[in-house]
Amino acid sequence: MMQLSDATKARPLTLSAATLERFDREVAKYPPEQKVSAVMACLAIVQQEQGWVSTEAEDAVAAYLGMPPIAVHEVTTFYNMYNQQPVGRFKLNVCTNLPCALRDGEQALQHVCRRLGVEPYGTTADGVFTVQPSECLGACADAPVMLVNDRQMLSFMTNERLDELLEFLMAQPIPTGGRPRATADEGQT
Ligand code: FES
Repeated sequence: MMQLSDATKARPLTLSAATLERFDREVAKYPPEQKVSAVMACLAIVQQEQGWVSTEAEDAVAAYLGMPPIAVHEVTTFYNMYNQQPVGRFKLNVCTNLPCALRDGEQALQHVCRRLGVEPYGTTADGVFTVQPSECLGACADAPVMLVNDRQMLSFMTNERLDELLEFLMAQPIPTGGRPRATADEGQT
């Protein structure tokens, strides 16, 4: 069987003291024997600091919480809000689950993709937008529904409203210092 050379193995992620301090605060909210309950909060911290959750980060969280890495991976892959790869500054999740699909959810996704020139799950070349289909966002009566940066829910997204949203987001100034990347508080419209 082919073995990965040491050079090609993923490097373990070393969590900073500041990150560990934040983890400690989350773990302290639970009885010691239930510290794994902090897994979602720890993953959210990693994503907030790094923009996404890499396999190495999952392993580091697993080691910190004393969990099997696969159990952490199951959490990361179950919830839409965790990015398993780098995403743009604005992550647009368009619901295509059945109730939304019956009210143009798929069409809304295609419209956004067409406007931005990306395929579903794609990121624009300038790193500003990532577009993804989404499972039910729990607001089916408002279909078609979408979520911006995991925080801002938007309802009744007709093509006109989608165009307005994209124009609004495109007009947002790029934060000073480095590559534009999604943060928890951006995308508030
Ligand atoms: S199916 Fe889209 S919000 Fe429920």
